Amino acid sequence: MSSSASCRPIKARLMSRFWSPIVRTLTPYVPGEQPKADGLVKLNTNENPYPPSVRVLEAINAATARLRLYPDPRATALREAIAARYGVAPDEVFVGNGSDEILAHTFQALLKHDAPLLFPDITYSFYPVYCGLYGVAYEEVPLDGAMRVDIADYRRPCSAILIANPNAPTGIGLSRETIETLLAEHPDQLVVVDEAYVDFGGDSAIPLVARHDNLLVIQTLSKSRALAGLRVGFAIGQPPLIEALERVKDSFNSYPLDCLAIAGAVAAINDDAWFQDTRSRIMAGRDALAQDLAALGFEVLPSQANFLFARHPGHHGAGLAAGLRQRNILVRHFKKPRIQDFLRITVGTQEQCNRLVDVLRGMV
Ligand SMILES: Cc1ncc(COP(=O)(O)O)c(C=O)c1O
Repeated sequence: MSSSASCRPIKARLMSRFWSPIVRTLTPYVPGEQPKADGLVKLNTNENPYPPSVRVLEAINAATARLRLYPDPRATALREAIAARYGVAPDEVFVGNGSDEILAHTFQALLKHDAPLLFPDITYSFYPVYCGLYGVAYEEVPLDGAMRVDIADYRRPCSAILIANPNAPTGIGLSRETIETLLAEHPDQLVVVDEAYVDFGGDSAIPLVARHDNLLVIQTLSKSRALAGLRVGFAIGQPPLIEALERVKDSFNSYPLDCLAIAGAVAAINDDAWFQDTRSRIMAGRDALAQDLAALGFEVLPSQANFLFARHPGHHGAGLAAGLRQRNILVRHFKKPRIQDFLRITVGTQEQCNRLVDVLRGMV
């Protein structure tokens, strides 16, 4: 490539006349950094700091004997394991390649209607990206002054509501009773509850599925089962909702979960001792880290997730994130109005959290 071409803005260089019109309009999601270098304290993408259950590794190893064959397109063994674990029927369970894929199918299958979809102004930043991809009209509902979702603000015309509970990046959760009120106030709108972080002290809405046909709950094995690299998520809802997701899935990719992912996920769902032990350690680590940050003068939002959202009255978020980066600690910073002074800090091991606090002590 000539040097003049390489100096042109990247957009002009990469744009092609072969692109579909929709591709020109997309603003893709930007995932948190996955650095190649070793030795970084990585607290930026809410991964579990502990390795997954050894039973997962054994199951994946055993499943390599079946790599020659296509996997079960319906991932029956996994749907049955999830159904048994959560007290629902297998036809109330949908599984996908990470909860991101399930969210994507949900937008296409269930959230594209004439009236707008509602979600909070501060929430998982993939939601507006899916709206752009699938042409879903949406309105952002501002969090209240305490950065909480107030369900009274959702009493307005809409086709559906999408809430991350606990919310990300705030970590603040809603009670099951509040979700049930939201469901009752919107009997003709679908309410999707994204419970990516619910296992760290939140209140799952799964027990409400039996009596609310307008509820879809989405969870992931990425965080509380330490399997972000395996890409497994699941949704629970009444069979007509699951059928809508299956229809989109089977029009897109019949085998979103490979046989290693299915085997590993079944083992993870069934290893309750590992799950309880690990999440307890993370919750205890979170509460200790929140206290340490508060002692350094940070305002820390009350978190029910495996991360904290915190700001310091004397420092800009961007400066703190950059300073930590220079000292080999990665946290997540969002250049977005209302939250640009916050840092989202994943709860790491005790050693990682201690390192963070020591470094911050020298900075604030
Ligand atoms: C709120 C929320 N939902 C869904 C996801 C997607 O998780 P995964 O695709 O790894 O299951 C994330 C990932 O960070 C998230 O923060």
